[in-house]
Amino acid sequence: MKRSIGIPLERKLQSYGLIVNGRSSAKQLSFLEEQKLPELQIVDLDEYENLWHAYLNHPLSKVSFTDFWYQGTDFEDRVKDVDLMRFRADNAYVWQLKSHDISRFVISALYAEKTDSYGLLTRTREDGDFGVQCIRIGGRLWSRDLIDSVMEVTFLRDHLPSGSLDSLRIIDIGAGYGRLLHRLADTTQNENLYGADGVALSTAICRAYIRHQDQDSRVSVLSLAEVDDLKEDFDLATNVHSFSEMPIEIVTRWLDWLVERNVRYLFIVPNKPGPALNDGTEFMPHLIERGFELVAHRLKFDDPLIGKLAFYQSEYYLFARR
Ligand SMILES: C[S@@+](CC[C@H](N)C(=O)[O-])C[C@H]1O[C@@H](n2cnc3c(N)ncnc32)[C@H](O)[C@@H]1O
Repeated sequence: MKRSIGIPLERKLQSYGLIVNGRSSAKQLSFLEEQKLPELQIVDLDEYENLWHAYLNHPLSKVSFTDFWYQGTDFEDRVKDVDLMRFRADNAYVWQLKSHDISRFVISALYAEKTDSYGLLTRTREDGDFGVQCIRIGGRLWSRDLIDSVMEVTFLRDHLPSGSLDSLRIIDIGAGYGRLLHRLADTTQNENLYGADGVALSTAICRAYIRHQDQDSRVSVLSLAEVDDLKEDFDLATNVHSFSEMPIEIVTRWLDWLVERNVRYLFIVPNKPGPALNDGTEFMPHLIERGFELVAHRLKFDDPLIGKLAFYQSEYYLFARR
């Protein structure tokens, strides 16, 4: 028999000082902390509108109307479920608690803390803004953004040459609102961080978020026109839950673009193992064809029991080009 432990467990967690902040289904949890919302809309709508027109027929952006990230034929100030004031809330960028039991959130956070072998949590913290769902454990506010980012940066540090994250030229493709770029800027000294995205709203939000974090002198969020014009090479490209959400023709265009920029390493976190697109198409053959060799691969939560109890298990793939 399936037993629901959600609500009693929530009370128990609260008695231990574990507090949830955010919104979920009515049945799930009552959230005890007010969300911090900015008083101002930080996304520049004129910038977004200009990007929207410029991206409309761009080959790295063009998807059919059946695709999730289709931008429409008329300009709109929103895409799908993304709310400009709450772009870190539960939406297509980063799924939040959804129907998971809160204990999965807690276990994931505690595992991220336990495996933080580079002390990243002393360099980055969760502000709890723009609608992100948080829990507080002891004094620390946790979000899925913080958990995933710390674990991804740890994996990169484990497998790239020692200290290199501070100086490699890095581009995050499909950067969303700038989650990983912001965390890379927080946890490294790197001044060569770049982001790109094929969806105009994502570029506009990412630019706004990076400016809001005061990291725009170290992080450049490129428009697709800038992507076309950029001649410099990259050492590392990151792609977290984004190739999986594109048609294969767009994935291969981005891969060709990276090959032209002599990228040395490529980090992929797909939505489905393989790595595969959401429709199950494996794109490993396209990587091999372009000289990418798998050099490290592991589960995000690589302890089998934790893997079952945490939320959003994934696989990490690091490729090198020979
Ligand atoms: C699930 S979100 C992941 C965001 C981010 N990588 C993260 O992990 O927080 C998928 C991202 O893929 C982007 N995307 C969709 N189509 C794209 C395309 N053709 N080229 C580049 N990025 C695209 C979306 O705009 C969105 O930012």
